[in-house]
Amino acid sequence: MGAGRTINESHASARMNDFRHIRVASKGYRKLRPSDLVLAHRNQLDWLSGALAEDFDGQTFVATHHAPHPSVLEKHDGNIAAAYASDLSELILKHRPERWFFRHWHGVRNSSVGDTQLINVSLGYPDEIADPAARIRDLIFEI
Ligand SMILES: [Fe+2]
Repeated sequence: MGAGRTINESHASARMNDFRHIRVASKGYRKLRPSDLVLAHRNQLDWLSGALAEDFDGQTFVATHHAPHPSVLEKHDGNIAAAYASDLSELILKHRPERWFFRHWHGVRNSSVGDTQLINVSLGYPDEIADPAARIRDLIFEI
């Protein structure tokens, strides 16, 4: 990525609370930038790709904060969708984990890619959920 910001990065920093409220301690507590998250995403994706490539005789579950596929978004503005869900289809289809749990997107839509179930375990903001205990019970029984 070059020095300039993409359209997605400009939309994300203008529209998401994360970029107003989160500070980066290792950068002198400056405000979080989309480029910080792109770098973290690439580093963590490298680690996850390596972990999934290791031989393992059993079921594989993945848990991430960010959603692994845009099919879980109920509605989205194309310019900001990348801030909620990456398209990790290639990784998912290559390693075929049983289930992939994620948060970050507060909708409760689940999806699948190939044989992998994508399950949203987000509770959302307190004012978005009428009965948190019921949602937690639902999640336990979904899993
Ligand atoms: Fe989040």
